[in-house]
Amino acid sequence: MGNRFGILAIDQGTTSTRAIVFDPQLQTVAMAQQEFPQHYPDDGWVEHNPDDLWQSTCAVVQQALAEAREQGCEVSAIGITNQRETTLVWDKHSGAAVYPAIVWQDRRTARLCDQLRSEVGDDYVQARSGLRLDPYFSATKVAWILDNVDGARLRAERGELLFGTVDSYLIWKLTGGQRHVTDATNASRTNLFNIHRGEWDNELLDLFRIPSAMLPQVQDCSGHFGTALARFTGDRDIAITGVAGDQQAASVGQCCFEPGQVKSTYGTGCFVLLNTGQKPLFSSHGLLTTIALQLDGRRTYALEGAIFVAGATVQWLRDELGIIERASDTERLASGLDSNKGVYLVPAFTGLGVPYWRADARAAIVGLTRGAGKAELARAALEAVCYQTADLFAVMAQEGLRPTSLRVDGGMVSNNWMLQFLADVLNTEVLRPALLETTALGAAYLAGRAVGLYGDTSEFTRLWQCRATFTPAMSEAQRATLLAGWQKAVQRVVLE
Ligand code: G3P
Repeated sequence: MGNRFGILAIDQGTTSTRAIVFDPQLQTVAMAQQEFPQHYPDDGWVEHNPDDLWQSTCAVVQQALAEAREQGCEVSAIGITNQRETTLVWDKHSGAAVYPAIVWQDRRTARLCDQLRSEVGDDYVQARSGLRLDPYFSATKVAWILDNVDGARLRAERGELLFGTVDSYLIWKLTGGQRHVTDATNASRTNLFNIHRGEWDNELLDLFRIPSAMLPQVQDCSGHFGTALARFTGDRDIAITGVAGDQQAASVGQCCFEPGQVKSTYGTGCFVLLNTGQKPLFSSHGLLTTIALQLDGRRTYALEGAIFVAGATVQWLRDELGIIERASDTERLASGLDSNKGVYLVPAFTGLGVPYWRADARAAIVGLTRGAGKAELARAALEAVCYQTADLFAVMAQEGLRPTSLRVDGGMVSNNWMLQFLADVLNTEVLRPALLETTALGAAYLAGRAVGLYGDTSEFTRLWQCRATFTPAMSEAQRATLLAGWQKAVQRVVLE
């Protein structure tokens, strides 16, 4: 086989790190994946060891590059996509993180958010950053580190500490500490970035008490971010030329480049992004306004609905309850029942996002009878993911936005039963693409575009193919009954 070129996508996610090499026709040449431990040191706290993020990245990169090389594929650029909002603070000179990474799911700053809300209100923050005052975003996590790690605030003020989301941290490490950068999509998840002007917002920095010297430089999603050094790639020096937060990268991979196009990714959590074009739209019902993409200095915006727990519920059934062996068992169990038998699972393990925004809510199972067993629980877990998506669609409808189809991706979408149920409760066509690695694909596209391997967005769009369509088949009455049952269950969690 002759030499061909490829792009390496690094997808540093919440539960695992993956590296995938794509060829110019977007075929997968090589892939490696590594899971790493989650740490829950206190109620509602979630942390990652920065070393695990870094070591797993090096391991999968080296493995995927070696495999690609064996297949005669030479990687010419790297794209990085990542779990968003997760916050790292490290020493500018030694590179040592001063505290574990505080993960996006972490709720420890809920009280600080309440306090700031009573001082300035959500609107003050939303008008600038597009986001809400919620522990989900990076700003209060950085503040917490500065206030709780001995000497950190002073060191940050002296310019000795750096802040970054995971993309920024990995680039800093891969470039041997040469580059402290991020991209506009990741910056737009911090609550410190002015999404209108495309720059860090001084008023927000004052509000959250974050010294500006800590912040990375913000770039377009496609362009030169630095060079990953051979000693880390295990190969040669390779340019990093594409970066986007994982949900934005999935939106790119799903080719949602036109206003009105919407995708939903079912991973650990579930994130729905609706492209709203060149103008940011603001929701009065809890949707977030975020930067979907920045190319050649031009920003595209999206409205986003965030569901904190999706696939994580299935993991919980497997790892904590031990009632399934594999995630795929849920499909067989759910489809074996004629109905949900009135059992609903509200997976508020880390609070509830849109439209409830209740950091303090906790999960519940309601409607259990003596006959309920693992099939009912498995079905309730899958149904919950669909009901939450329906809640998001209901909010979008309140904003006057009614998508006619939904492009789906992520680990859960191999589950046909779930996608049919999703189409049924949304009363909307659900499209599953041929290429399911949409997040990595999006990052690879951004990197490949910068080095001329992939063309403009319209050329890339021509390669997108739908593999399966799920068409709504449920009666209106049944849909209404199920959604009413879900709402009743949620109210029990929210009103507690
Ligand atoms: O906002 C959090 C999100 O980026 C995490 O994505 O795929 O790691 O669940 P994932």
